[in-house]
This record gives sequence, C-alpha cells and structure tokens, in this order.
Amino acid sequence: MTTSTIAEIGGLMIIAAVTLQLLMGLRAMRARASERGRHGSAITEFSVEPAGRPETATTSNSVETVLWMGKRKFRIARRMYENESQDICSYYLVPLDERALPGFRPGQFLTFELPVHEQEHPAMRCYSLSESPTVDEYYRISVKRLPAPANAPENTPPGLSSGFFHDVALEGDIVETFAPTGQFCLDQGSNRPVVLIAGGVGLTPLLSMLNWLIDTRSEREIWLFYGVRNRSDHIMYDHLKRVRKECPNVNMYISYSQPTPNCRPRVDYNVHGHITVDLIQSVLGGDQYEFYLCGPAAMMNSIRSGLTEWGVPADDIRSEAFQAPAPSKQTSVADGTIETDEEPGAFEVKFSRSGRILRWNKGVDTLLELAESNGIKMPCSCRSGNCGTCLTRLTQGTVDYVHPPSKEHEDGSCLPCIARPKSDLVLDL
Ligand SMILES: Cc1cc2nc3c(=O)[nH]c(=O)nc-3n(C[C@H](O)[C@H](O)[C@H](O)COP(=O)(O)OP(=O)(O)OC[C@H]3O[C@@H](n4cnc5c(N)ncnc54)[C@H](O)[C@@H]3O)c2cc1C
Ligand code: FES
Repeated sequence: MTTSTIAEIGGLMIIAAVTLQLLMGLRAMRARASERGRHGSAITEFSVEPAGRPETATTSNSVETVLWMGKRKFRIARRMYENESQDICSYYLVPLDERALPGFRPGQFLTFELPVHEQEHPAMRCYSLSESPTVDEYYRISVKRLPAPANAPENTPPGLSSGFFHDVALEGDIVETFAPTGQFCLDQGSNRPVVLIAGGVGLTPLLSMLNWLIDTRSEREIWLFYGVRNRSDHIMYDHLKRVRKECPNVNMYISYSQPTPNCRPRVDYNVHGHITVDLIQSVLGGDQYEFYLCGPAAMMNSIRSGLTEWGVPADDIRSEAFQAPAPSKQTSVADGTIETDEEPGAFEVKFSRSGRILRWNKGVDTLLELAESNGIKMPCSCRSGNCGTCLTRLTQGTVDYVHPPSKEHEDGSCLPCIARPKSDLVLDL
C-alpha cells in the first residue's frame, strides 16, 4: 500500500468518525427537542433576571435536593391557559436567585403567601405542582379561578388567591412560596399497577404523578380516570390525548357529566356521567392496585367508600382534599365561654394574645372550629392538616388529632384545623 493510499484511508476514517459524532449529536438534540415539545414551549425562552437573594437562605446551597427554609422568590416566566373556558391557568415559576430547584415527590404542593389587595395580611394558599419532578428548569402550578358559590348571598366575593393569580399575576411578576411539601405522593418505589382518579382541577397532583411515570419510562400498568363537566373544562386536552396515543401502558377513561353537542363521544370522552366505582370495577382486572384520588369532596367520599366496600385495603387508597368543608355548627358565645351542655372531660382553651378563654367539649370538632365560632380569626387554607397555614404555638397542654396530620410540625406547636385538646390548653393566638 502506498503512503498516499494510507493517507487517503486515514482521511476517510476521520471523516467517518466526525460524521458519526455529528449524527449522534443531532439525535440527542432531536430527543431533547421532542422532550421540550412535551412540556410546551422551549424553556430557552425563559430569560432569568440577575440573581437576587432569597429572603431566607437555603439550608445548603450546594446540594440540589435540599429544600430551602422559609419563603423563596419566584418569577412567573410563563402563564398558559389549560382549558377552553380559560378558568384554569398554569404558571411556570423560575427561582429569582437562579439557584437549582430542589426535587420533590410527585403529588406534593407549594404554599404561597400572596399579597391580595382585599385584605391587610397576605393570603396563604397551597397549589399542587402539576409537572413531573424530572423537569428541573421550573416549577409549574395550575390554578382554577374560583367564583362565588352559586347559592351564596349576593356580594359574596370570589376566591381571593385564585383571583389574584388570574387577574393580577402577570409574566415577569414575582411570587413567594415555601418549599414543596405534602404526604399525598406517588409511591415511587412500587411496581404495582396504579390507578389515578381525578375530578376537575384535582387532576393537578395526579398529572405530576402521571408525567413522572411516563418520563421515567415506568412499565407499571397505569389507569387514569378523569371526570369533568365537558370539553370546555377538560384540562390539558392535547397532552392527555398524546399520552393516550403514545403510551401503551397508560389506560385513560374520561367522563363528561354535562357534554354539550360539540363534545365527541369516544374522541373527547368515553363516559357520559360521573366516575363511579362501578365503572372502575368494570374495567380493572384483579385487585392489586394502588389508588390515588383527588377531586371534589362528594366524589372522593363516594369513591373511597365504594373501593372500601369492594375490599381495597385502606393503605392502598391515598387521597387529598383541596378544601375541607367550612364549619357548619354554630355555637353561641357568652363571656368568652361556649354555652353547651358541659360534658365530663371538657377543657379550657386560652387564646393568650386576646386573653379569651373558651371551654371546649365534645360537641365541637376542632380548635379551628372553636375559634371561628367564637369570632376568633385564625389563618387557614386546607382545613385538613395538609398545608400548615394554621400552625400555632402551643404554650401549654397537649392535643389529639381528628386524623393524622400530613404536615409535619415541631413539638410545642399544633395544627388547630384538625386538633382537639387532650388537656387544658394555652395557644399563642
Ligand atoms: C394541598 C392543596 C393543594 C391544592 N392544589 C390546588 C391546585 O393545584 N389548583 C387549584 O386551583 N387549587 C388548589 N388548591 C386549592 C387552593 O389552595 C385554594 O383553596 C383555592 O384556590 C381557593 O382559594 P381562594 O383564595 O381563591 O378562595 P377563597 O378566598 O379561600 O374562597 C373560597 C370560596 O369561598 C367563597 N367565599 C368567600 N367568602 C365567602 C362568604 N362570606 N360566604 C360564602 N362563601 C364565601 C369564595 O367565593 C370561594 O368560592 C389546593 C389546596 C390544597 C390544600
Ligand atoms: S389549614 Fe392547612 S394545616 Fe391547618
């Protein structure tokens, strides 16, 4: 072989290697681009402002998964309506300090402190993270605008915080939130079939679970039962349609309770009516499923009791309520003491800041209810021990809980929305 032939072969090999590298590079770029397509518009559109300092520092700025303490400022990088009626809007949040975002567990939520104009103090509200934790460029929440209830008296104001997000919070604005938290999470270590059951905006934590399962190429058998009124309320229609088409292990049942003539059976939805346990039973085989529920209270109650009757163990049914019903019982006030037939075991509850002393007995469900029915205001959001908004220092005494709180808290504090006295109490309120 002549020297020039060897040089030609060498040259050809170099060209082949470079071409191969280019092809591999293109492939990787295409994979990333299609991944971005799944998440909407490219994240490169986000321009992050110069680094600011968070109000409180992270416990460690080197470990990405460490959560921050206190509030942290986020810029709304993008807003996007998620349904035809435009009453559900997603907010893409990027940290103002430009530090890495800690991971979270699919199903967890953020707690915001929002400067609503209608009241002196900021409003604290929780919103579920609606995207998979595999997406680490932003946090996404999806907020439903809450009008005044249909049967409410005239002049009842619409929802404060949802109104703030829809009417006031614009792209570029800053909002403050505490770190992700919550116990309503997908069991990420399990391989069992998983059933996600959502009503209305209750889809948000389940979307995070669904997207995580898809992003991690889970081979678990996955079912999504999702109920809404009709096509105009259907959240993330295109995304769900794509998932149904492209993921063979995801089975989807969409039910419309009030389909309009524009709603196409078998194209937009499968079932006319509500999601029921009868429907779920009719399509699921076997009984080794993990169930995750989030939606209106009535739907969750009926599905939970139906599943229990079917024989599903309580540990396999996990649920989250966005809002527990407001207290219904009215208790009269007399000299700071509740007038009820006092039962043995009644306790004295002192609110140290106002000096009010109330008597609690078994006719009253929770400390929150006791306070509210006696005109004592207490910050609260979920009313179900999830969010920590009502966290109050307990300077004396011990409490019991109506059900175990999802929100962890230190000794010497309590969550009055689900707490009952076990002894006389002094609350720092
Ligand atoms: C863990 C968790 C996760 C959540 N995730 C989401 C989520 O992903 N997306 C989402 O949209 N929501 C979510 N929520 C619910 C959210 O936190 C808020 O509760 C919801 O947005 C309503 O808050 P608001 O301030 O808009 O309404 P509020 O101001 O709290 O009002 C609530 C309702 O009461 C009515 N009202 C006000 N005053 C009166 C009165 N005097 N008499 C009668 N009615 C009255 C209002 O009109 C409104 O309909 C979640 C809640 C929790 C606890
Ligand atoms: S109001 Fe949410 S924990 Fe009490």
